[in-house]
Amino acid sequence: MGRFKMPPQIFRLVLLTIGIVVSYLIARQLLTPASFRDYGFYRGDALEEMASRTPVFAGKKSCDECHSEVLLKLAKGDHKTLSCEGCHGVSRDHAGNPDITPIKLTGSHCIRCHEANPSRPAWFHQITVKNHYAEQKCTECHVPHQPNEVP
Ligand code: HEC
Ligand code: HEC
Ligand code: HEC
Ligand code: HEC
Repeated sequence: MGRFKMPPQIFRLVLLTIGIVVSYLIARQLLTPASFRDYGFYRGDALEEMASRTPVFAGKKSCDECHSEVLLKLAKGDHKTLSCEGCHGVSRDHAGNPDITPIKLTGSHCIRCHEANPSRPAWFHQITVKNHYAEQKCTECHVPHQPNEVP
């Protein structure tokens, strides 16, 4: 039995594999952020970065101070689970200073949730906008804070 000689084409494959593995290891070393795996399979620093962002939503509770009648109304109807800012948009600035008014709403924000879409659960009430009184505004027939009521 002579000494084992690796066929040249296999030798090249082995070299290539080693090359790929080594460059992967180097890339991993260079590209992995320092705080990765501090707590788990994510960048530890990300926690601090997220926590230091200034919040933009004020939350339903903060609206209660000045619009308690709207909260009471909303709580009675089918929209009770919705947040104020889900429709009115981020309103933290407004809650701190009422002179800054929330953005004006157009009808299209209703469609965002109610336009018929097969990916939505069947129990969720949906309409096909072009067949549903398309020539009128939603709020002419539905009170937004109490959608089953007629204005
Ligand atoms: C410090 C009191 C205060 C707080 C807190 C407050 N508002 Fe207001 N809001 C006002 C005043 C004052 C007006 C203007 C008077 C009016 O038209 O009723 C107003 C008007 C509005 C309007 C009508 C704007 C328009 O263009 O006519 C909306 C919508 C609104 N607020 C939403 C909210 C939401 C949502 C929150 C909670 C995130 C909130 N407000 C928190 C005082 C407040
Ligand atoms: C389903 C979307 C929706 C939700 C949820 C909602 N609003 Fe509104 N809101 C509207 C629309 C649309 C108008 C404008 C009414 C109009 O043009 O006739 C409005 C009007 C208002 C106004 C102006 C005065 C009035 O009563 O018409 C205030 C104040 C207001 N909303 C506060 C709130 C607060 C506070 C909450 C949370 C408790 C809230 N809204 C939740 C859609 C919504
Ligand atoms: C953030 C999502 C969202 C937005 C925006 C929204 N809705 Fe709703 N709506 C709901 C949910 C959730 C319900 C309760 C579940 C249901 O009845 O299907 C509901 C219920 C309703 C119902 C009662 C359906 C029934 O027969 O019981 C009507 C009508 C309605 N919304 C109209 C509107 C109108 C008009 C607007 C715009 C002013 C609007 N919605 C904006 C989520 C939304
Ligand atoms: C001319 C009046 C009118 C207008 C405008 C109108 N609706 Fe309605 N809507 C009704 C009536 C009446 C019903 C209940 C009977 C029916 O389903 O047609 C209803 C039912 C609904 C329902 C419940 C559907 C279901 O399956 O039970 C939703 C959701 C709804 N409307 C959302 C909207 C939205 C969003 C807009 C604006 C794009 C709008 N509506 C505009 C009169 C109106």
